[in-house]
Amino acid sequence: MSLPPVIAIDGPTASGKGTVASLVAQKLGFHYLDSGALYRLVALASEQEGIDTQNASELGILVPKLMISFKNSQIFLNGADVTEAIRTESIGLRASAVAVHPEVRLALVDLQRSFRQFPGLVADGRDMASIIFPDAILKVFLTATAAARAERRYKQLIAKGISAKLEDLLQDLQARDARDSNRGTAPLVIAEGAKVLETSDLSIDQAVKTVLDWYQSAIA
Ligand code: C5P
Repeated sequence: MSLPPVIAIDGPTASGKGTVASLVAQKLGFHYLDSGALYRLVALASEQEGIDTQNASELGILVPKLMISFKNSQIFLNGADVTEAIRTESIGLRASAVAVHPEVRLALVDLQRSFRQFPGLVADGRDMASIIFPDAILKVFLTATAAARAERRYKQLIAKGISAKLEDLLQDLQARDARDSNRGTAPLVIAEGAKVLETSDLSIDQAVKTVLDWYQSAIA
């Protein structure tokens, strides 16, 4: 029997891929994997345990011990609801620091692949198309200019009542882009065969529709 289909959506930070991927999953009735959340969970857990982000071997030992569960839109780490706690800018930066280590990435491979279940999966991240699901039926590289992404993040934070400075956000995301693109293991790349979706001037609905149209063509 063939494996469930996967739509892999990769892209830089704050490109809107999470929003687009989860809406595409909803429309198709597919499962959804937010792989960035896993790196954020490792970031949070390592902070709680006092493990340095450069200590690759300790981090590699920590990952299999974590009890991670997703229930609806909530995320639990060792029984505690950390849905909000993993979304801060500092955890995002820390996530990109722990994500450079092959020990960490390898320890997360099976967990990510276990999300591949019928009727299908939409997975978003940095290496979904290149490493985790190289046989994805559709590979999308979703991006937007750094300025557009910083502005989106700014609006999200302000809407949540969190104060933020546009300039700081732009600097943070450029630092994360650089780290994610230049690391030796699983760098952020446009995978072979991926379709590029530039969303700076697209609404969320337009981006979702484009991915759905591409999927229909891919399975036709
Ligand atoms: O997507 P999100 O911003 O939540 O990801 C947080 C960090 O986790 C990224 O900056 C990246 O360094 C790392 N990540 C990764 N591979 C993935 C998903 C996220 O390295 N598949």
